[in-house]
Amino acid sequence: MEPIIVVKDIRKEFKVANRHEGLCGSIRDLFFREYKVVQAVNGVSMEILPGEIVGYLGPNGAGKSTTIKMMTGILEPTSGSITVNGIVPYKNRVKNAQNIGVVFGQRTQLRWALPAIESFKLLKDMYRISDKEYKENLELLNCILGKEELLQCTVRQMSLGQRILCDIMASFLHNPSIVFLDEPTIGLDVAMKARIREMIKVLNKEKNTTVILTTHDMGDVDALCQRAVIIDKGNVLYDDSIENLRRYFGAYRALRLNLFKDISKVTQEQLEKIKNDLEEEIAKKTFQRPSITVESKEKEVCILIDEDKISTMEIINCIQEKYRIYDLSINDISTENVIKKIYAGETNEEILSID
Ligand SMILES: Nc1ncnc2c1ncn2[C@@H]1O[C@H](COP(=O)(O)OP(=O)(O)O)[C@@H](O)[C@H]1O
Ligand SMILES: [Mg+2]
Repeated sequence: MEPIIVVKDIRKEFKVANRHEGLCGSIRDLFFREYKVVQAVNGVSMEILPGEIVGYLGPNGAGKSTTIKMMTGILEPTSGSITVNGIVPYKNRVKNAQNIGVVFGQRTQLRWALPAIESFKLLKDMYRISDKEYKENLELLNCILGKEELLQCTVRQMSLGQRILCDIMASFLHNPSIVFLDEPTIGLDVAMKARIREMIKVLNKEKNTTVILTTHDMGDVDALCQRAVIIDKGNVLYDDSIENLRRYFGAYRALRLNLFKDISKVTQEQLEKIKNDLEEEIAKKTFQRPSITVESKEKEVCILIDEDKISTMEIINCIQEKYRIYDLSINDISTENVIKKIYAGETNEEILSID
């Protein structure tokens, strides 16, 4: 299958003014403006196939929105090339707009003062959607949405979730082959997130629409995406199936142990001793001394285990050489926490702190 989107080594630099503080600083800025260059996207390449739902993930400021803006033609890349449906988006914005739908969770393309249905009619004219197509799409959307009244409300009256539902509907109205959704579930409650996911899923299935989705919510990814592209600081860190994600970054488990009776908190000294003892025991057995992450949680000792390197059973055996284990539990670490690990560099704290 031919890819519908081809992104080759795109970069985007922003020149931003360095502002100085205070009155003197402001006056200085008037005469001597200093600039610095922000590398928002730093050599991203990817190919996306028709009908895929791709999760485009990364921490805040990673460059996700900037990439989406380049793919939708809002911004021109500093270098590199993009084709969307065979079109260079920033050179043919109008033509590109016919093929794509866009939703930025933070903004709306609907008119605040008008009922949503009126905005839809405007879109119908703008995109020259035929009566038949328009009617069919409205029926499908209403079918998914379950109620028609929402479209009669003015956008101003809507909750954030309702507004985003309408925005997503609007983005699919002209049967685009690709829809870009930038943080569509941000700030929504669990029930509304579920409805939005359902809608995206059905629309993708019914129309084979390609969906590029940026989100912070791994629930969105688990519910919708087969594939994840993860970026950080403008670079692609990962581009593969969700299935491989955990294998790729190691199979992490958190082992929680109760090693001391009648204490309320494990002390720093105790922790360090355990870490040392454990590493020594492992070294004896494997002739390698890996660095093991050991943390405390109240009276429990938590050990982060990368099962690709050492098995949980081996760790337990090593601990038992020196300590009595009163109680233990083993938790798998979710995809979300694995991704947090990637974002966080190597701070394992966050991984351990979430069950
Ligand atoms: N118009 C702009 N001018 C200057 N810097 C920008 C602009 N847009 C984005 N940036 C910077 O580029 C980086 C990536 O931003 P963005 O693409 O919005 O990240 P994300 O969507 O992943 O949170 C950030 O450091 C951001 O501050
Ligand atoms: Mg963003």
